[in-house]
Amino acid sequence: MRAVVTTGDGHVELKRIDTPRCQSGEALVKVIAVAQNPTDWKTAVSCKARGNVLGCDFAGLIVEIGPDVPSGLRTIGQRVAGLTHGGIGPNGAFSEYVTVPAALTIVLPDRTSFEDAAQIPVACFTTCQALYQCLHLPTPLGGEHEQESVLIWSGSSATGYYAVQFAKLAGLHVITTSSPSNFKLMKDIGADEVYDYAPSHTPRRIFASTDGKLKHAMDCISQDRTPNQVSTALSKDGGTIATLLPYVSRTKGVRTEFILAYSIFGKAITVPFVYPAKQDHYDNAVKYAALISEVLHKHEVKPIPSKLFPHGLESVKDGFEYMQAGKVHGEKVTYRIADTPEL
Ligand SMILES: NC(=O)c1ccc[n+]([C@@H]2O[C@H](COP(=O)([O-])OP(=O)(O)OC[C@H]3O[C@@H](n4cnc5c(N)ncnc54)[C@H](OP(=O)(O)O)[C@@H]3O)[C@@H](O)[C@H]2O)c1
Repeated sequence: MRAVVTTGDGHVELKRIDTPRCQSGEALVKVIAVAQNPTDWKTAVSCKARGNVLGCDFAGLIVEIGPDVPSGLRTIGQRVAGLTHGGIGPNGAFSEYVTVPAALTIVLPDRTSFEDAAQIPVACFTTCQALYQCLHLPTPLGGEHEQESVLIWSGSSATGYYAVQFAKLAGLHVITTSSPSNFKLMKDIGADEVYDYAPSHTPRRIFASTDGKLKHAMDCISQDRTPNQVSTALSKDGGTIATLLPYVSRTKGVRTEFILAYSIFGKAITVPFVYPAKQDHYDNAVKYAALISEVLHKHEVKPIPSKLFPHGLESVKDGFEYMQAGKVHGEKVTYRIADTPEL
């Protein structure tokens, strides 16, 4: 099959390699579309090994069910989306076929295109880990609960975009930040309050609007000024921030917990961060895969507009340059496998 692999010196190439084979509990997916995340180019730049298949987010069709998958859990021909830890071995999303634990695939409604679906897994698993595993907030499928406020810092990031929608569908009061040009978009996907992330007074405005009582935040940027900004918006009595890059808040009483989407596999991780194996993260992710599938079927979850690069996997190097140059705004870099030229 054709796949985008690391060259070991910071670059990538499109190559023919062996198709991966299902291990215990896995399904083989014929990939139709893939979406790009910042981790993909960052992994490619730092990878010293040759031939690791890149890419984490994919959508496609199940073509084979491996050993030990409970009967009826998933079926051949099912439309699914999934997440794989790309760039660390011979299995990755930027390829024609990928293997994935069957229980961690998200079952897609017929109305969701593969191009839109490809952006869902990383963003939605991360959202679930942040809002439910870390912050213990109610899910869109939960029953009646007291209305709480949550700050999603950067609703216009790929992950924040879904976190805002899931939090709103759960009936929470959603506060977010974006550039002013995205204020309307943030309101359209359900944010109750939107602030410009740039001005220095924004955290104090959020603190004031929540009467100094805000306890829950998800920091979808987690670098430069945001650790301080998000901490400042929280109650003086303390609170919790789910962070997407590791940091510890300097504000007294504010607890931070680093969320890592790759931990859904329940295995120890060494790249891009050292992270211990956590079986409960796998167990939770099985529930989150079912939850995400159900939310997609029951609700209209809006996708970020796809920015389709023209030559499928052949365009990945251009997509990396585009993202690395900071050009991604309110769009998801996406590739269709069928657009890839023959090798
Ligand atoms: N730990 C994990 O498992 C995990 C999972 C997913 C992502 N991440 C990490 O999270 C980060 C974001 O990734 P992503 O793919 O979700 O986002 P993304 O789509 O790359 O985010 C781009 C958007 O971020 C917004 N932004 C930039 N600086 C900001 C700031 N200081 N405050 C608020 N918003 C800001 C911009 O919004 P405007 O267009 O409105 O200006 C921009 O459109 C990356 O570092 C990524 O590696 C980690």
